[in-house]
Amino acid sequence: MTTLERTFFMIKPDGVQRGLIGEILGRLERRGLKFVGMKFMQVSRELAEEHYAVHKGKPFYAGLIEYIISAPVVACVVEGPNAIAVVRQTVGATRPHEAAPGSIRADLAVMVGRNLVHASDGPETAQTEIGLWFRPDELTSWDRAADRWILE
Ligand code: RTP
Ligand code: MG
Repeated sequence: MTTLERTFFMIKPDGVQRGLIGEILGRLERRGLKFVGMKFMQVSRELAEEHYAVHKGKPFYAGLIEYIISAPVVACVVEGPNAIAVVRQTVGATRPHEAAPGSIRADLAVMVGRNLVHASDGPETAQTEIGLWFRPDELTSWDRAADRWILE
């Protein structure tokens, strides 16, 4: 049984600054994932710190916060069968030189500190992050005409 899941996905400031919004969103869209929430926004320091609270105290934490608030991001909620794993696979490993060929980070990035995208890493984080970044009324369930050609 495949379960329909939702996950949180974000194009980080480097993806926006490098003009890769369309390229990156297109990869998720072409794979068959469905966007149910999306917004272009400047992240506050408060939100960045809450989002990355798990990394507080690590050597890269301060730089990570500065990076995430340095320019706008595109925040998304993505839906699909096994969406959490599917999006993580499309994103690729955290360190671009370890990411699988064909993944966003392998194809478009070279450094961990500029790795273009974020995706929730499990069911609990997905739920927490969706709630942190989106109000319920900002999410839209919708029927996609192509669904019958993507979902068995
Ligand atoms: P993300 O949370 O952004 O989706 O990335 P991830 O799960 O693949 O990696 P995670 O371990 O959660 O790290 C979060 C982000 O922190 C930055 N980082 N820098 N300089 C470093 O050693 C280092 N390690 C992590 C990356 O931007 C990473 O995506
Ligand atoms: Mg992470």
